Amino acid sequence: MKIGVIGGGQLGRMLALAGTPLGMNFAFLDPAPDACAASLGEHLRADYGDQDHLRQLADEVDLVTFEFESVPAETVAFLSQFVPVYPSAEALRIARDRWFEKSMFKDLGIPTPAFADIQSQADLDAAVASIGLPAVLKTRTLGYDGKGQKVLRTAADVVGTFAELGSVPCLLEGFVSFTGEVSLIAVRARDGETRFYPLVHNTHESGILRLSVASSEHPLQALAEDYAGRVLKQLDYVGVLAFEFFEVDGGLKANEIAPRVHNSGHWTIEGAECSQFENHLRAVAGLPLGSTAKVGESAMLNFIGEVPPVDKVISIDDCHLHHYGKAFKVGRKVGHATVRSADMATLQAQVKQVEALIKA
Ligand SMILES: Nc1ncnc2c1ncn2[C@@H]1O[C@H](COP(=O)(O)OP(=O)(O)O)[C@@H](O)[C@H]1O
Ligand SMILES: [Mg+2]
Repeated sequence: MKIGVIGGGQLGRMLALAGTPLGMNFAFLDPAPDACAASLGEHLRADYGDQDHLRQLADEVDLVTFEFESVPAETVAFLSQFVPVYPSAEALRIARDRWFEKSMFKDLGIPTPAFADIQSQADLDAAVASIGLPAVLKTRTLGYDGKGQKVLRTAADVVGTFAELGSVPCLLEGFVSFTGEVSLIAVRARDGETRFYPLVHNTHESGILRLSVASSEHPLQALAEDYAGRVLKQLDYVGVLAFEFFEVDGGLKANEIAPRVHNSGHWTIEGAECSQFENHLRAVAGLPLGSTAKVGESAMLNFIGEVPPVDKVISIDDCHLHHYGKAFKVGRKVGHATVRSADMATLQAQVKQVEALIKA
């Protein structure tokens, strides 16, 4: 079976690493000459709107999936004429736009921060008056790793901020004083069967994920599964979906969903019986889903900008390095490590060892 992937970054690379043993081949559509998935399959180097190459991709593969949500809607609509695309164009339309996404949460009765659609500075001024400060202004589309958003704390912060974010459609959100951030990785098969991984605790720095720790019997697991289940059903979703939540007052507020495999699920490669990457491929290919059960305790640390010396990382006990083979760039995710242990205390010591290498 040949799978077409829109995007050829590290998520595409890890999809191919999971799918190759299942007998799958891969083709990646990505305009970047140095797309890091390219060494694991065919690389169609073209823009996402290039219909000749999209047609070529559709002719070559059995189905198409994607590794990032900012794929233009027209690209998905075009491809869908010739080849099955999972998740669907509709799931992508909702998940790539923060206004549609939060409106869906509200319609499904899922708690989410107060929010307002912002098309102008006047809209922003009015929304600040009703939602209050602090608040967060985010572009409706194309934001990632904390890019395309600004925290507004004082009245002075509000002045000119709409223009600062490019005068594009935005969303204003009430600022949430959360006690923690958790994510739920879910997978839904073509026949509707749904499985969930254990909730993951996430720590961000400057809007970028730094550390994910898989939890055991988290008290909010059932609630998170209930909320995510509503979204999966609503979208008649096929594949892996990541759901980010804020923990507030012993409950959850929905932050965002990602219609794809997710950074906070990388630990599942070594830490779960079947990884998020394999389960995504199983789902889109119409194969039976794999177990989402944990194998001991796991934590994942991102390498941002550069990967510490390989020999040092792999010298840490039960530490698994993933080097994406990307060039150095400030703020860019270039690799990660997953540490695994039978108990939490040992795991925390291993996390500290990796952190020491990052700071060195
Ligand atoms: N309304 C909010 N209140 C408080 N913190 C927020 C809010 N929205 C986002 N953040 C912080 O910024 C991070 C990135 O924001 P998010 O909306 O998830 O965008 P991205 O698409 O960049 O991941 C969040 O993980 C959280 O730490
Ligand atoms: Mg996020």
